[in-house]
Amino acid sequence: MADNNILIVQSHGPVTVLQLNRPDVLNALNIPLMDTLIETMERLDTDPAVRCIVVTGNERAFAAGADIKEMAEASVVDMYERNNLARWERIKRIRKPIIAAVSGFCLGGGCELAMHCDIVIASETAKFGQPEINIGVMPGAGGTQRLSKTVGKYRAMELILTGRFFSAQEAQALGLVNRVLPVEKYLDEAISLAKEISERSPVAVRVAKEAVLKAFETGLSEGLDYERKMFYMLFATEDQKEGMKAFMEKRKAEYKGK
Ligand code: CAA
Repeated sequence: MADNNILIVQSHGPVTVLQLNRPDVLNALNIPLMDTLIETMERLDTDPAVRCIVVTGNERAFAAGADIKEMAEASVVDMYERNNLARWERIKRIRKPIIAAVSGFCLGGGCELAMHCDIVIASETAKFGQPEINIGVMPGAGGTQRLSKTVGKYRAMELILTGRFFSAQEAQALGLVNRVLPVEKYLDEAISLAKEISERSPVAVRVAKEAVLKAFETGLSEGLDYERKMFYMLFATEDQKEGMKAFMEKRKAEYKGK
């Protein structure tokens, strides 16, 4: 059983903030932390009171990567048996929007965790990077694929082959970060954005997230086909009727997720 303290869970109305809490090791992602994070996300995903999840760390570190001490002596078979890919797949399957609120080091598996999120809000002090090359390996939680798709082949290649850190401002210019804020504001901004999303129809939000993620995994025609079907499907929801009626009646819609 994992130590509960490694993840702090805080509720802000419809938004739940999950704070990675291994500050002594810059929130290095060991197996207990990953398992606690994933189990908590899955529980929140089925809780109708929760509309949006924010994942954060502390001012010094979002997460400095997978826990190197846990991997250093591992054999190929050890790594295979740990089946970390299955853990990351479970994060990929969370249907509610996840916002990463990043300050300080966001490296290796930490950067890959941010890239598993749907929106990234960074503090001006955030430092991103895929530095695995410096310890004799390479990104192993989707970094080569997601970074390339997000920032393009040539930029991803440079970042992954040199392992250099890059600033929040550069990350924003590369399209990896939505907004950059002073360190005292980035978390509030992430929560406020999550609250804004929480006011939308929860079913439409989940389906729209799924459709955007399809763009990463399919060709354009297949993606467009999927989007069209999901768009039609939303006309079976009460939220669609309520949203369009509220627009015509010039009032705020009240969504029920039905
Ligand atoms: N795993 C385990 N421990 C880590 C860690 C990690 N990824 N990152 C930092 N720590 C620990 C340090 O060992 C140190 O612990 P001790 O006090 O017990 O020595 C503590 O956190 C503080 O770190 P530093 O003293 O190194 O702090 P610093 O400010 O001098 O340097 C840093 C900060 C540049 C981030 C440096 O810690 C560092 O380079 N960390 C490793 C970054 C990295 O290589 N990440 C990729 C990991 S591999 C991976 O993620 C694979 C994947 O794709 C899934």
